[in-house]
Amino acid sequence: MRKNRLLPLLVVTSAAIALAACGKKEDGESSAASNAMEVNGLKTPAAFAGITDASERAAAIFGEMNKVISHPRCANCHPKSGGPTQGDAMTAHEPPVIRGPAGLGAAGMECSTCHGQENVEFASMEGSIPGASPWHLPPESMGWQGSSVEEICSQIKNGELNGGRSLEDLIEHNSRDHLVNWAWHPGEGRTPAPGDQETFGALTAAWVDAGAYCPQ
Ligand code: HEC
Ligand code: HEC
Repeated sequence: MRKNRLLPLLVVTSAAIALAACGKKEDGESSAASNAMEVNGLKTPAAFAGITDASERAAAIFGEMNKVISHPRCANCHPKSGGPTQGDAMTAHEPPVIRGPAGLGAAGMECSTCHGQENVEFASMEGSIPGASPWHLPPESMGWQGSSVEEICSQIKNGELNGGRSLEDLIEHNSRDHLVNWAWHPGEGRTPAPGDQETFGALTAAWVDAGAYCPQ
């Protein structure tokens, strides 16, 4: 629905891009009006403002955040054990790689052997190697692939499992972290996570504001 309202804007933007022959389409799409109810398929905090009970509101907001958290772009890097997975079907990473010390891969086969600072398009076929530095896996305690929304919520705010992060730290991480950011700029051949990082960060802040309650 939002797409329709934005259509004239996008047409103008595309024309401008065509004229300037530079710039990215994302710039036109992500200008989230602060009172918009939805951005690229992700509801904004405004969509939950009508829920008066704080614990119900927090739970509903976390449910929306989970559309991002459980999305393959995030979950491929957050397995509960073993190595990373890849693609929207979250199949085993090809070639097989191990987590290794500090999640950086095996000696001689570090993630950084193949994954650079930025996405790199394949030369000979469609697709790309994802990149953002340092590209690595979090500890197993921060894995949630296949977990329920209830489990993910209580794990993410548990300081013993989340790297000692406070709720404020989580807002900061979700709003600014560059590996989180990659999920909306995943490179050729990959579906981005819904919404944008700004909206995801705003949802995290609204969840914390409402008491950081979890869905039951
Ligand atoms: C390239 C791999 C990678 C991707 C992609 C990635 N993460 Fe992470 N994530 C990590 C690493 C590594 C850490 C641990 C950072 C640390 O504690 O040093 C982490 C930590 C976190 C944490 C804090 C720890 C916790 O359990 O609460 C959150 C929250 C998080 N990531 C959310 C996300 C979300 C949401 C996305 C997608 C929008 C995402 N991550 C995408 C690698 C990744
Ligand atoms: C031998 C090269 C190589 C190594 C080493 C490697 N990767 Fe990859 N990785 C790739 C390639 C190539 C792709 C893209 C596959 C595709 O999309 O066809 C990929 C894709 C991924 C994806 C999928 C992203 C998505 O959402 O689809 C993740 C996550 C990932 N790698 C994490 C890691 C981590 C973490 C390490 C280190 C523990 C690592 N990789 C080591 C080559 C490598």
